[in-house]
Amino acid sequence: MLIGDKPHFYGRRQGRRLRKAKSALMDVFLPSIKLDSKNPLSFVGKNQKLYLEIGFGDGDHLAEHSLKNKDICYIGAEVFKNGVANLLSLITGIKTNDEVSEQISLLSNRTDNIRIWDDDIRLLFPLLPDACLDKVFLLFPDPWPKKRHANRRFVNPENLQILARLIKPNGILRIATDHTTYKFWTLRQLHNCPYFEWTATCGADWKNPPADWVETKYQRKALREGRKPVFLDFRRK
Ligand SMILES: C[S@@+](CC[C@H](N)C(=O)[O-])C[C@H]1O[C@@H](n2cnc3c(N)ncnc32)[C@H](O)[C@@H]1O
Repeated sequence: MLIGDKPHFYGRRQGRRLRKAKSALMDVFLPSIKLDSKNPLSFVGKNQKLYLEIGFGDGDHLAEHSLKNKDICYIGAEVFKNGVANLLSLITGIKTNDEVSEQISLLSNRTDNIRIWDDDIRLLFPLLPDACLDKVFLLFPDPWPKKRHANRRFVNPENLQILARLIKPNGILRIATDHTTYKFWTLRQLHNCPYFEWTATCGADWKNPPADWVETKYQRKALREGRKPVFLDFRRK
């Protein structure tokens, strides 16, 4: 839904007050790895792959992926300030305030393959060129389970059309959810979308996490509460 000319964001932008170290990382370090909106792909080499994670939450998945795969570039998008601060702590390894000023200059080799978009991803979409993404992760998106809130769900025809423009042919859109309504909703939306095909050929393909999977906070919460996540990979045709 558009309010003014900006899409309206229904989730939370900030939670508890940040601890000192995280607050310092936000002030001192975030500006150096924020995505440059004027030249968003300037950090990506000619033959490098580019992955996008939408709504990375506490950043566990994005941090581990980007630290393990230094040859791949990552854009992480998250609106929730506390989540962004947590990601900064994970990718730098900095936990206390004293470490921030001591270690900040040593960090570029840990973080040169990742850029952060600390706002609504829908504001970045128009700034990205066609077919620039190899993989997109949308992991445990807010399910908005009530029928009257269905128009807030991220998986919808408009966003799928945009993602189809941005993902390369044979690129992957990965959606994980622990919510039954959202699972069926996603499968229906993707079934109706001519640009993607579901890669699963048997139950194990969507019941088990994929090979490059990293557990997320919301996945752990789902498992604690007895809900089984599903892992849906769709290939851009
Ligand atoms: C349910 S949480 C899941 C977080 C994480 N992926 C996980 O699995 O732990 C959904 C996250 O998506 C973020 N989010 C929702 N819509 C977004 C948007 N349009 N742009 C960026 N982030 C978004 C929310 O702020 C929230 O942190």
